[in-house]
Amino acid sequence: MRVTINQIKEMKQKGEKIVMLTSYDYVTAQIVDKAGIHMILVGDTLGMVVLGYKTTIPVTIEEMLHHTKAVVRGTENTLVIGDMPFMTYQISAEEAIRNAGRFLQETGCQAVKLEGGVTMAEKVKRIVECGIPVMGHIGLTPQSINQLGGHKIQGRTPEAARKLLDDAKAIEQAGAFALVLETVPARLAALITKRISIPTIGIGAGAGCDGQVQVINDILGSYTGYIPKHAKQYVKLVDIMSNAVSQYRDEVTTGEFPADENSFTIDDAVIAELEK
Ligand code: KIV
Repeated sequence: MRVTINQIKEMKQKGEKIVMLTSYDYVTAQIVDKAGIHMILVGDTLGMVVLGYKTTIPVTIEEMLHHTKAVVRGTENTLVIGDMPFMTYQISAEEAIRNAGRFLQETGCQAVKLEGGVTMAEKVKRIVECGIPVMGHIGLTPQSINQLGGHKIQGRTPEAARKLLDDAKAIEQAGAFALVLETVPARLAALITKRISIPTIGIGAGAGCDGQVQVINDILGSYTGYIPKHAKQYVKLVDIMSNAVSQYRDEVTTGEFPADENSFTIDDAVIAELEK
């Protein structure tokens, strides 16, 4: 049985930690699903860690839908959330609803995520009213990177901290079922977590959040670009993959691969007939 948004909300009440990871393809989603991770976010980080863009800004809804479908096919138990890319929800509530609807209808995912606080609350409310669960995302919101002026820690001044608290409350009141807090000082994230009734999911927001999310490529060491301070690398897949590819190159060059066990047999008589 798939995890539901009600179970996620109950986990906060029970004080149980919520575990979320990103995934972008079928095989990875199967591994994450089997590991018992509660939620998968098909994040627009896809743009960087899978498609090779420099930021999340160029990611299109068609790219997101394509990868979200693959992730849904790889899961049975995990709640799958599709990330709404830049300019698919900002312009009007109508566009936001239509595009959020595309995620549920065309991919089979169970919820969507979008970035923004007070200014996006009305859109969140309207999407939720249509029966589409929404996860909010405040703090460092990568789709606004040009406005924010880079990957900076958010909420460090009294005004900025107050604004983040207001953003969190607005998204809670709009009906979101959970809220991502990205790159926020740990004590501020813990305070926001206490002040709102929906679960907070931190990324670079300390241990006081109700749950944590990481970009899977960061914890597996399979992305060689920007590695954020908050990420812990549990393995370095890039090295393991590079070694395997180099070994393959060498064995093909020397003729060691393919060996007999990697080849197929044929009756001697067939070859003899051709050699006549
Ligand atoms: O796109 C993404 O992967 C995200 C997470 C970093 C929260 O938004």
